[in-house]
Formats: sequence, structure tokens, C-alpha cells
Amino acid sequence: MRLWGGRFSKDPDQLAHEFTRSLPFDQRLAEHDIAGSIAHVRMLGHCAVLTPGEARKIEAGLERVRAGLSSGELTLDPESEDIHTEIERLLIEQVGAVAGKLHTARSRNDQIALDLRLFVREEIDSLRDHTAALQRALVEVAEKHLDTVMPGYTHLQRAQPVLLAHHLMAYFFMVQRDRDRLAECRKRVDLCPLGAAALAGTSFPIDPSFVAKQLGFDGLCPNSIDAVSDRDFILEFLADAAIAAVHLSQLAAEIVLWSSTEFGFVRLDDAWCTGSSIMPQKRNPDGAELTRGKAGRVFGNLMNLLSVLKGLPLAYNRDLQEDKEALFDTADTVSASLRVMRGMVTTASFDTQRMADALSAGFPTATGVADYLVRAGLPFREAHGIAGQIVQYCEKEKIGFEQLSVEEWRSFSAEFGEDIVKRISPGGAVAGKVSPGGTAPPQVKDQIARARKLLES
Ligand code: ARG
Repeated sequence: MRLWGGRFSKDPDQLAHEFTRSLPFDQRLAEHDIAGSIAHVRMLGHCAVLTPGEARKIEAGLERVRAGLSSGELTLDPESEDIHTEIERLLIEQVGAVAGKLHTARSRNDQIALDLRLFVREEIDSLRDHTAALQRALVEVAEKHLDTVMPGYTHLQRAQPVLLAHHLMAYFFMVQRDRDRLAECRKRVDLCPLGAAALAGTSFPIDPSFVAKQLGFDGLCPNSIDAVSDRDFILEFLADAAIAAVHLSQLAAEIVLWSSTEFGFVRLDDAWCTGSSIMPQKRNPDGAELTRGKAGRVFGNLMNLLSVLKGLPLAYNRDLQEDKEALFDTADTVSASLRVMRGMVTTASFDTQRMADALSAGFPTATGVADYLVRAGLPFREAHGIAGQIVQYCEKEKIGFEQLSVEEWRSFSAEFGEDIVKRISPGGAVAGKVSPGGTAPPQVKDQIARARKLLES
């Protein structure tokens, strides 16, 4: 069956058919297509474009198609051109020729735009749930590690002591931005394009607001030409998802690094590791590696659609059919990555001793030494220089700050007192970082309280 063909004298070439059909991937939109059709046919009845009897009959038929597809009683004909054709074919099987009235005042152009908006809206809600679940996991682990001190890094060099909780909360706020961005995007997705028909609108006395209300849309697309060609809402979703994939990839990269023997900061649960076929000792963080690796396809999907759209004249062009696989792939990949990261984070155990040991080398409290002298009245530049000399001295002697006697400290500056010993302890350094958002325990507790509020809202 074809939704067109009246003006054609022969069937399409088999290759042409295969090249242009979309059923292999757009069948995923079946549920949304049926929901959109039910809303549309109710509206046609409501506006007396169809008789109440016709509208009721078609709606009942669509409900039977929906039930039949979900129970497996009905199956899609794999040869069909697209999901719209296929649902209509199944509807004819149910209700006969009256099914042909469903397409009144509608085109596949506004129909596919509608299906896609319904799909993206649902995916946004689901991804937002998954981001919240990951955030909850991060907060829970952070709360358990409010007194675990570890080296914070810049340039992947030990920089300054921070709380593990602080480090984990950084990811919380990154993911929060992802969740917020998706909510922003949702506003622009949440408009109903139905009624645009092919591009110009329709001469039937329809009520697009009626359809929009049935489907829970916030409003209507304001211009019918734009309504059938706009894919910005998909682009925006792909872009937001790509940024989320960056964050997930960064978290994943850190898990890979931290679970290495070299770092040893984290031990992943057996359920989240895989072994090697040759090296019996291996416990590989594949879930994290694949999350990192799969970010690539998520970025590619965005580039893909940007390229599809950039040269298109208005309004609908068949090129737009190429939006779907990129969209589906990104939705699935980011959803899976969020769930995998959550699983790995909740079940991981952190080696707090390894983290403490890592603080004993690399002089991560050197900034504290400089700050100490600044408090005593020295300009920061001068203090920085003295602290640098002490680091050099310790390196030469192969000792840490904690092995210096007070006399040795004083040989670098008379300003040093007994309390320098406490100030250069990692715990002391952390406790001192009381600026808002900083790593001192009360500041991190503040961040956690803020996070809890964000998760409630
Ligand atoms: N398969 C098409 C797509 O995904 C549906 C819309 C087709 N419209 C048309 N005029 N051929 O974009």
C-alpha cells in the first residue's frame, strides 16, 4: 500500500523504494503516531469535518491497532514505506474504507513533525529522570566522604588537598546544568505543529488548539511553513545531549584513571567490571571506557543534523527524514551512559588510605605555606617565592614538609611559628578553604544542602 500513487503509471524501482523508505527506523514512532492520529480524528469530529460516527469508528480502530501492536497480535509489514502508511494500512484492516478519512486536513509533513516532538518531549523527561538519579548517587557518595581528603589536581599534577565530597559535588553541578538545559529545550519542543498540513495550512475548519490540548502541548507552532521544516528542537536536544555526554565522558575518564593500579583511588564493584581473555588479573572499567568512547557518536549525531539542515530551502524536504537515526541514537546512548555511570558510582568503593598517601608527596599544601606568610604581612609574590624555595629544599633532601623542624622553617622566614605544622597538614589546608563553594567541610555541606533542594524541585 502507498499513500500516493494515483498519478503514477508504475511502481517505484525496488532500489528507489529501499532508498527512500523510513519504516526500518521510524517504526519506533508508532505509539506517538497513533496518539497524534487519535487527537487529530477527535478534533475532526469535534469540528464536524467528520461525522461523530466516523470519528468514533476511526478512533476505536486506532485503539485496536495500538493494542494489537503492543500485544504482538498485529505486526508491521516490513515492506511498507513509513510508519504513517503502515498505521493507516492496519487501520483499514480494522475499519475499512472510512480509515481513508483520517488524513483529512493533515499531511505527513505535519504528522512527522508532531511525532518527533512527542518523541523528544518524552525522551527529555526520561533523560531528566536519569540525570537526577545520577545526581542523587553523587550526593549520597559525597555525604559518606565528608572527611575523606584527597589531592585535587590541575594539569593532572597534585595541586591542593580537597575533600572527595567536594570533587564529587563538582559533577553534581555539571549534571545539574545538563538537566536544566533539557528543561529549557523542552519549552521549545512543547509546541504543536498539526494543522500546518503540507506547509500552507488547510482550508478545513480545524481547531489546532483542540489537538494541542489533547496531547498536552503548551501551545501551537506560530507559522505553518516553519512548523513542517523546523528541526531546531531536535538540534537543541542533540546539542544539550552532547554537552551531557562531555560531562559523562569526563566522569568516565576519571573513573578509568582512578581505578588504575597507578592511582588506586577507587575500586569498582565486580558487577561493573569485565575481565580479560588472556590476563587473569585484569578488572577492566569497560562501562566507563565505553561511556567515554560513545560520546563521539553523540557529537557526531549533532554534526550530522547540522549538516543536513544547513542548505535546505523552506519548507519540508525529504532530507529531513535523516533526522531520526541521529536523534534515536543520541537518546539511547546518553540514556544508557547516564544509567551506567550511576551504577558504577553507587557501587564503587573509595580507597581513602590511597588518597591520604597521595597527599604525602608532591607538596600539595605549598599554597598554604605561601598564604601563611601573607597573613604575616608579606606580599603574596614574595611569599610564593619563599614557599618555592622550601619545596626545592625538601625535594633536594628527599623529605616532605611534615619532616621539617620549626628551626628549618624559620631559616626560610622568621615569620614561621609553631602553628605552621598544623597549617601544612592536608586536613588543616582543607579546613582553611572557607570561601563560598570551597572545600572546607561546612562549605561542602552547604553545597550538598543546595543539591538536595535542587533534587526536590
Ligand atoms: N518519512 C518522512 C520523514 O521522516 C515522513 C514525511 C514524509 N513526507 C513526504 N512528503 N514524503 O520525514
